[in-house]
Amino acid sequence: MSETLYDALRESHEIQRSLCRKLLRSKPGTAARADVFKQLRVELAALEAAEERYLYVPMLVDDMGLNASRHALHEHHELDELVEDLQVTDKSGSSWMATAKKLSEKVHHHLREEEKKFFQVSGKIISEAQKVKLAKSYRRDYERMRRTYAEK
Ligand SMILES: [Fe+2]
Ligand SMILES: [Fe+2]
Repeated sequence: MSETLYDALRESHEIQRSLCRKLLRSKPGTAARADVFKQLRVELAALEAAEERYLYVPMLVDDMGLNASRHALHEHHELDELVEDLQVTDKSGSSWMATAKKLSEKVHHHLREEEKKFFQVSGKIISEAQKVKLAKSYRRDYERMRRTYAEK
């Protein structure tokens, strides 16, 4: 069986879950914390971009997918704002960690909602052939966006 868009997205979701765990376990003031934060920042931004283009655009143009995709794009924006709050030089304080926890909770909530609800909504909108084709487009764009955001 060929890989579908949902297989590819689930794989990216696992990377995010694992990076969130590592971030919450990181020690204040270490290079490791800054490094894990950067990895998570790049992953979140790249996944959001490629997912918006290849999962949510096809959903948005169908009446059945309008509410779900709108909701998801709003959550992407909320995640971006938390990342922005965390992007400060001093990452050692307790308020920084409190925001990191909030980000991790929001990431987990968002991924769960996508996997349990939005993938099913999208599955009714796009054809089987499109699911395979979109997986390839998604992967190509996700890799490209990872490189783009890693340089920022
Ligand atoms: Fe998402
Ligand atoms: Fe996602």
